Amino acid sequence: MNKVKTYIETHKDRFLNELIELLKIPSISADSAYEKDVLKTAKAIKISLEKAGCDTVEICETNGYPIVYGEKTIDTNLPTILVYGHYDVQPPDPLDLWHSPPFKPVIKNTEKHPEGAIFARGACDDKGQMYMHVKAMEFMTTTNQLPCNVKFMIEGEEEVGSANLATFVKNNQEKLKNDVILISDTGMIANDVPSITTGLRGLSYVEVEVTGPNRDLHSGLYGGAVANPINILTKMIASLHDENNHINIPGFYDKVEELSLEERAEMAKAPFSLEDYKNALDIEAIYGETGYTTNERNSIRPTLDVNGIWGGYTGEGAKTVIASKAYAKISMRLVPHQDWEEITQLFKVHFENIAPKGVKIKVTPHHGGQGYVTPIDSIGYQAASKAYQNSFGKTPIPQRSGGSIPIVSLFEQELKSKTILMGFGLDSDAIHSPNEHFGVWNYLKGIETIPYFYKYFTELSS
Ligand code: BES
Ligand code: MN
Ligand code: MN
Repeated sequence: MNKVKTYIETHKDRFLNELIELLKIPSISADSAYEKDVLKTAKAIKISLEKAGCDTVEICETNGYPIVYGEKTIDTNLPTILVYGHYDVQPPDPLDLWHSPPFKPVIKNTEKHPEGAIFARGACDDKGQMYMHVKAMEFMTTTNQLPCNVKFMIEGEEEVGSANLATFVKNNQEKLKNDVILISDTGMIANDVPSITTGLRGLSYVEVEVTGPNRDLHSGLYGGAVANPINILTKMIASLHDENNHINIPGFYDKVEELSLEERAEMAKAPFSLEDYKNALDIEAIYGETGYTTNERNSIRPTLDVNGIWGGYTGEGAKTVIASKAYAKISMRLVPHQDWEEITQLFKVHFENIAPKGVKIKVTPHHGGQGYVTPIDSIGYQAASKAYQNSFGKTPIPQRSGGSIPIVSLFEQELKSKTILMGFGLDSDAIHSPNEHFGVWNYLKGIETIPYFYKYFTELSS
């Protein structure tokens, strides 16, 4: 990939400005008030793909937000890379914790990003990382170095579960046919410790509702004599973990893949400082399942976490009341072989079983997806590894991530191809949190690395 560095150096201000324009559009898929902005973002992506040299670009309508699809075929005998990314973002709230408005991108230096980072919702997840692929494509087409065929599929509903993308993939197998899928929507260990994500956790997301009496009651007249749904809900939730922080749902661990001691030893080689970890989060101690390290707890082990809990009086001052209902949203992160629908069912049955008489329980499944692991001896992984060696001067470390991109396992099932997760974000980039950002260095490094993946994947495939 001749002159990729020079090309980036020449065009970097424009690369940054284009991303900044994209980040100004609040494409929040979860909130229907932003519908126009989500659609506007899809149009902006379409134009950027056309400018980057795709032959055909279309906005494919779905029952939800559209999928932007683009392709460039140079020779049907050459391999085809399918790039996936998402243009929707998480809601930015709580807004008062942002140091600058989430949709007014600014570049500021940070300890981890001395060369500057772009602060905006979606900077890292996933507009910034997705746009690296558009700019890498621009480089390869304008310098006549695109070595293979490419397809882009950029969706607008990843942050809300990709329900319509699943249908799109099932109905468009021929159109989406590819030799490898390439995604930048994960992270890496550190800027001087490049890594390639080899696994994602699955997910089961449920909402629970506990109903007690048929109306809110005076807590003096009725307190102590009827089941208080909030007391009951918190008790039930507390019982879901035992004293070793093991999850108490019968059958939950039945299919969990146990890693060998060798594999765990291999994992432990990745650089990690517990002190830095604690300092970054302002915590005095870590917490989790007995018998596992922090890196194991957040990647190869399943979890159960309450994401939100509400009910009763939460306004100013005090109101003496026993609420009729209490609610919680709960996510379970799953590891390979655990089936998300089966786990959802196990949760539902167990949660209903442990409820005392005097309350009614409703469990509503939201969305979910299977976990994913990819081997490191595939052509795709090898090509990615060589690409990083070129641009970072180091061999990347394979690393399983704790996050989820549920659609990846569906890609494998429907399109029969492996996904390579080349993520360039850092855990400290605050995705989904206030002050999300993406390092300028990381953005440009991604643009530099991607063309090499194309080159090596094409070479290794022949
Ligand atoms: N890009 C993230 C997933 C991610 C981030 C994986 C960092 C690995 C490392 C994605 O946009 C995301 O947020 N996924 C959701 C699940 C989805 C169904 C809402 C998640 O992991 O919570
Ligand atoms: Mn993402
Ligand atoms: Mn996300």
